[in-house]
Amino acid sequence: MSSIKISPSILSADFSKLGSEIQELEKAKADWIHIDVMDGHFVPNITIGPDVIKKLRKYTSLPFDVHLMISPVHNFIKNFADAGADIITIHPEATTDLVSSIKEIKSFNKKVGVSLNPETSIDKVLPVLDSIDLVLVMSVNPGFGGQKFIKETLNKVKALRKEIDSKKLKTLIEIDGGINFETSIMAKKAGVDIIVSGTTIFKENQGNLKKNIQLLKTG
Ligand code: DX5
Ligand code: ZN
Repeated sequence: MSSIKISPSILSADFSKLGSEIQELEKAKADWIHIDVMDGHFVPNITIGPDVIKKLRKYTSLPFDVHLMISPVHNFIKNFADAGADIITIHPEATTDLVSSIKEIKSFNKKVGVSLNPETSIDKVLPVLDSIDLVLVMSVNPGFGGQKFIKETLNKVKALRKEIDSKKLKTLIEIDGGINFETSIMAKKAGVDIIVSGTTIFKENQGNLKKNIQLLKTG
């Protein structure tokens, strides 16, 4: 299996200087940049939209891992593809037709992710597992950074790992929420490929991004 990738969430960055924060993450050896898009409707918080992502695009060549927590999501997919997203992740609850939203993302040659809330069963994603690039397992309820890791979600990671390996699929498993230096070890053991982290990367060790990314990767 390839080595673990780290996708720092800019939700914990200083929003007044996102461009330089992203440059710092690249210097600190981040693999991807996780961008949380929230609409105040699908989740009880509001963040940024495609115009901001478009402006950020010139600050790094790292893949933009865009996590859409907006509903209905379908008609906005093009805006995020045009803005420079590389991976577009959607929640099944945010679309009336998951298969057609997956097709929509692919029509722009973008990688497709499907995200499972803590209470959402893996049954939602199994029928499309072979047609998507990643499953984003939420280990907190989406909406805010800094929440406590929900351990039970690791059972879904384990079940997905089994399914993906037994079918010899290339689908990646990403985990998002409450990742610290302990829960990252648990997540890796359960079989994730990519770790998202906001609070730990930006706040631990006096905000030493490089050290925190390295610790999450190798710890
Ligand atoms: C929550 C977001 C996460 C969040 C993770 O809705 O999807 O990406 O930024 O933050 P931490 O790592 O602080 O739990
Ligand atoms: Zn996220």
